[in-house]
Amino acid sequence: MLAGAMEVKISKRINDIIKRDGKVMLSTTRESFPFVPDHGDGDFIYDAAGNRFLDFSSFVSVYNLGVNANKQIRNSIKSQVDKLSHNAFTDYYSERPVRLAEKLIRMMPRGFGGRVFYSNSGTEANEAAIKFARIFTKRSYLMSFYGAFHGRTGGTLPLTASKAVQREHLGPFSNVVHAVYPDPYRNIFNLDDEGELSKACIDYIEKNIFAREYPRKEIAAVFVEPIQGEGGYVVPPKLFMKELRRLADESGMLLVSDEIQAGYMRTGKFLAMDNFGVQADIYTMAKAAGGGIPFGVTITRGSLGDIPAGSHANTFGGNLVAVAAAEASLDYVTRNMAALQKGVKKKGAYVMRRLQKMKENFEIVGDVRGIGLMIGMELVKDKKSKTPATEAQGEILKRCFYEGLVLLPAGTSTIRIIPPLTIDEKHLENGMNILEEVVRKVNAETTKK
Ligand SMILES: Cc1ncc(COP(=O)(O)O)c(C=O)c1O
Repeated sequence: MLAGAMEVKISKRINDIIKRDGKVMLSTTRESFPFVPDHGDGDFIYDAAGNRFLDFSSFVSVYNLGVNANKQIRNSIKSQVDKLSHNAFTDYYSERPVRLAEKLIRMMPRGFGGRVFYSNSGTEANEAAIKFARIFTKRSYLMSFYGAFHGRTGGTLPLTASKAVQREHLGPFSNVVHAVYPDPYRNIFNLDDEGELSKACIDYIEKNIFAREYPRKEIAAVFVEPIQGEGGYVVPPKLFMKELRRLADESGMLLVSDEIQAGYMRTGKFLAMDNFGVQADIYTMAKAAGGGIPFGVTITRGSLGDIPAGSHANTFGGNLVAVAAAEASLDYVTRNMAALQKGVKKKGAYVMRRLQKMKENFEIVGDVRGIGLMIGMELVKDKKSKTPATEAQGEILKRCFYEGLVLLPAGTSTIRIIPPLTIDEKHLENGMNILEEVVRKVNAETTKK
């Protein structure tokens, strides 16, 4: 038990819930710690036994504005529920989803214009982007990157190349080719210089993919995460995105920025791609964009025009409850833009300072990286070999949980630090103290072995 931390007691009720779950639910990606959230109030979540946890996960980057904390979002949902929930928006007309689309388009880069399609999740937002890219270009192939996560449904799973288990028994996957994402910490080219690395990755596409596998004129779109999320919180060099944009332009491919995890102010900018000074042709968002309600959105560049009527639609896209949450959330973001930007920058810099010190002091902290409050700490057996320390990752997450701090993993040995953007600075400091103490202990135990 660390000084200032809460003592977490796992009650019989919690164990029972987990046991019942194991009997009736198909397995998903559950964490190894027994977390049964019951209610939340911003920076904290309380489990079904009343244990209090500080949130460094934003519930997988959904509660960017605090766990169930934003009153405007809650009230907006409540009042819409009392009026009308379902509006069959792809068949009938409705003002509120149109108003939200107008507001979302205003958040797009200058000159982008935009047309909007709503769905219910990240994978559906990307499914729509795949279809739109194919319709707009009349080409069928797609490109994405090793380490990418774009979803788990039929169209997006082929784009995803994060963990083999996600694809096992589900192939064959045609139509998608994977390129090398420029990971400055570990890359197959063994290049430390970020400029050289960027060029090597682009070269690889031109000399191998385009020249040997897929003629560039047949690729409809390249999907990219501005920062790879599930793949391990990998931040690519700025130059890489610029070169990718050039390559897309030269090849007539559309550039799709998957902003589902990195977007919506997580990096301090509404669009994570803006950190690279690059405009995409299609942006996809979900997670935080729905303010806690299932919501996905695909926004295409205005100059691409429209798709043929009847070529794509769904039942629940533009659902009024989801739109009520998304609109209230977006209104909050636009009203508080300056404060959010300043806060994310300051808090992100604080976390990075703390992590840099940990990297200096602890052998198992191999790399720390991020933009704004999208930060990863990669654990290794030792700094020289850089062998991923997957066991240490699980151990640290578990011990932090029992100290009252909730975190999530990414990749094979990275811990993501993604607290609500609105987190109180004192709470952020407390969380970092817990994390540091736990890493100190695990580091001492691991390096003693
Ligand atoms: C970058 C990215 N794209 C797509 C998805 C899929 O989103 P969903 O789980 O809502 O389908 C995720 C989910 O983690 C993601 O991080």
